[in-house]
Amino acid sequence: MELKTVLAERRSIRIFRPEALKAETIQELLEAARLAPSGTNLQPWRFLAVTSEEKRKKLAECTFGVNFIAQAPLTMVCCADRSSLATRPERLRELALSGAFAGTSLENFSFSDYQEKVSRDEAANLAYLNINVAIAVEQMILRAVDLGLGSCWVMLFSQKKVRELLALPENLFILALVPFGYPDQQPLARPRMALEEIYLGEV
Ligand SMILES: Cc1cc2nc3c(=O)[nH]c(=O)nc-3n(C[C@H](O)[C@H](O)[C@H](O)COP(=O)(O)O)c2cc1C
Repeated sequence: MELKTVLAERRSIRIFRPEALKAETIQELLEAARLAPSGTNLQPWRFLAVTSEEKRKKLAECTFGVNFIAQAPLTMVCCADRSSLATRPERLRELALSGAFAGTSLENFSFSDYQEKVSRDEAANLAYLNINVAIAVEQMILRAVDLGLGSCWVMLFSQKKVRELLALPENLFILALVPFGYPDQQPLARPRMALEEIYLGEV
């Protein structure tokens, strides 16, 4: 499917047909996420695929009334790995070696003190990690459209309850739950602000 068509046809889907997704389909979604860009190539995203009926029902109970989580054949639990920040020097080294900065002024940039240069507090660090995870999640969502699947971002859930249910370690911050499945609805496009309201112009 043309990217333009994918962008125009994607909808948040909240009613799903019950059929299970093939393992290859789930792999395709994960591959779309894996290819996402991230700051200093940190790749802080971690995903857990919830497909069992028992866990889907329990996961829905950890949300604030999002019952379609139980209905969707797959819910991807999308997490940011806080501990990935410690891997930054390694990622940067790898990135430099791959030639990412070759021919630019960044070739001579001292990355050894990068951590100090961009020092952020804990909240800013988490926001940074979450931005990166969100990009990967959206890549997965767009690939899903291409595969004929629907999905919906869900953030209305209890972090504590989901962590307990799935025995997720403290280093994983659960950014979103994203149910996937074949759509059993064809929603109209939702309202959007006009271009003039979001575009500040060209200078
Ligand atoms: C970050 C984010 C969080 C969202 N959280 C929820 C949610 O918790 N529950 C829900 O039903 N929809 C949720 N949505 C879906 C939005 O309501 C939806 O994207 C918006 O209304 C526009 O509709 P569309 O996606 O069909 O274009 C979320 C979307 C985003 C991007």
